[in-house]
Amino acid sequence: MSLRSLLTTGLLAASALAAPPAYGASTVTKTVTVTASAHCSSSTSHSTSHSTSHSTSHSTSTTKHSTVKTTSTKKSSTLSTVVSSSSTASPSSTSATTTSVNTNGGGGTTTILATATATNYGLNDAAKAAGKLWLGTAADIPGTGEAADPYYITAFNNIHDFGEATPANIMKFEFTEPQQNVFDFSGAETFLAASAGKAIRCHNLVWSQELPTWITAPTTPWTNATLTAAMQNHIIKTIQYFGDRCYSWDVVNEAFTDGAVTNYTSNIFSQTIGPAYVVLAFDAATQAVKSNVNGSSSVKLYYNDYNIENAGAKATAAQNLVKDIKNRGIQIDGIGLESHFIAGSTPSKATQQANMEAFVALDVDVVVTELDVRLNLPPTAATEAQQVVDYYNTVSACVAVPRCVGVVVWDFDDTYSWIPGTFPGQGYGDIMYQPNGANTPLVRKAAYDGILEAFLGLPEAL
Ligand code: XIL
Repeated sequence: MSLRSLLTTGLLAASALAAPPAYGASTVTKTVTVTASAHCSSSTSHSTSHSTSHSTSHSTSTTKHSTVKTTSTKKSSTLSTVVSSSSTASPSSTSATTTSVNTNGGGGTTTILATATATNYGLNDAAKAAGKLWLGTAADIPGTGEAADPYYITAFNNIHDFGEATPANIMKFEFTEPQQNVFDFSGAETFLAASAGKAIRCHNLVWSQELPTWITAPTTPWTNATLTAAMQNHIIKTIQYFGDRCYSWDVVNEAFTDGAVTNYTSNIFSQTIGPAYVVLAFDAATQAVKSNVNGSSSVKLYYNDYNIENAGAKATAAQNLVKDIKNRGIQIDGIGLESHFIAGSTPSKATQQANMEAFVALDVDVVVTELDVRLNLPPTAATEAQQVVDYYNTVSACVAVPRCVGVVVWDFDDTYSWIPGTFPGQGYGDIMYQPNGANTPLVRKAAYDGILEAFLGLPEAL
C-alpha cells in the first residue's frame, strides 16, 4: 500500500501510534475539526483513544477535514477537547468554537503529542484561509537522501501541506556558477520540476557560505572592481535565467553579526568591497528585475537573516538597511525572518508581531523563511509541548500581520534536518519525523497541529 493510501485511510497515524516516541503512556484526545467547504468536499477523520484500550475509530464526513490526536503524559487525565472551526469561501470569515469535555473530572495540566491524519486539508490550505500566500518548506533536492526517499517525496508533494518550496542548497552560488561565468542550472531545474505547482522562494544570491572556490580562492586576488563585477554578473544572470519562476530571491543572506553591537559579517565581499556590497547587490538585482528577462519584473527582492525576529541591534541594522536601499531608489520588497528557534528560547508572539510590524512600517513584506524549533536531545514531553507553543506563536504572529505573506519551514522531516549536523546535541526540530528511519512512513508531530491551529485562529489548547 502506498503512503498516500495509508494516509487517506488514516492507517499511517495508527501505525505511528503503535510506535510512539518515549513519552508518557496515557493520553488526552483532542480533535480539531476544520470545516472548509471552499477547499474540499470530503475527507476521513480519525480519532484514536490510546491510553488503556487502544481503541480506534474512523468516520468519514463531508465536512471534517483535519483530526488531531493528542496524548498526555498525565496518566490520570482523560480530558477530551473538541475544537471546531468553519470557514466559507472568504478566508476572513473563518470562525472557531472550542468545546472542552472533561470525561472523568480529571483534566488539569496536560502536555500534548499529536498526529494529524487528514490528507485533503493541511497547513497550506490553512495558511491560505488565513490570507497568506502559502505554507512552504525547504527541500534539499536533487542528489540527497530526501530526494530519494519516496515517503519524504510523497509528503513534500502534498500541496495541501506545502504550497511553496525553497531550495535548501541547489540555487546557492557554488552550484549555480561553479566556474566564473560558467553557469550550471541543471540541479536547480531538477528542483523546480520536483516542485511543480508550488511557488518558489529562490535562495540565495550572495552569502558568505557555499561559495565556489573561484570566489573564495581566486588565482588573481580580487579587487573591489573585479569582485563587484563578478558578484553583479552572478546576480543579474541568475535572476534573468529563472525569471518569473521565482516568486522572490533572497538577494543577500546573513550580512550582519550577532551580539549587542552589530557589524557587517566578515566575508570575501565585505573584506574586498566593503559594506557597500549589500547595496550593490540589491542594485544589480534591481537591474535584473527591471530588464524583465523571462518575466523577471515580477520577482520580489528580499534580505534574509536570523536573529532579527525580535527587536535588537541586528533587527535595527536590517531596518536601517531597508531604509538605505529605499532611499537610494533601489528595490527591496521584503525581509526574510529565518526563525531558527530553540524550544523555550523563542520570542513571544507579541514580540515577533511587533518586530514584523516594525519592518512592515518601512513598506516591505515579511516572510518567516526558515522556521524550525530545535530541542536538546533527547526530547521530553515538556520540551515537545514547548515546541508546539513556539511553532504556534511564530505562525500566530504572522497571521496577525497582513504583510507577513507566508511561512516556510526549513524542511519538515527530522530525518533530513540540518540541525543535528550544525548544532550537536540538538534536533527534533521539524514538524514530522520517521519513527523507523529513512524510507519509512512519516508521522506528523504535535508541532504540525500547532501551526494548523495558529492559521485557523484557534487557541493552542493543551
Ligand atoms: C543550510 C542547509 O540547510 C544545509 O544543508 C547547508 O549545509 C548549509 O545551509 N540559513 C540559511 C540557509 O539561509 O541557507 C542555511 O541552509 C541554514 C541557515
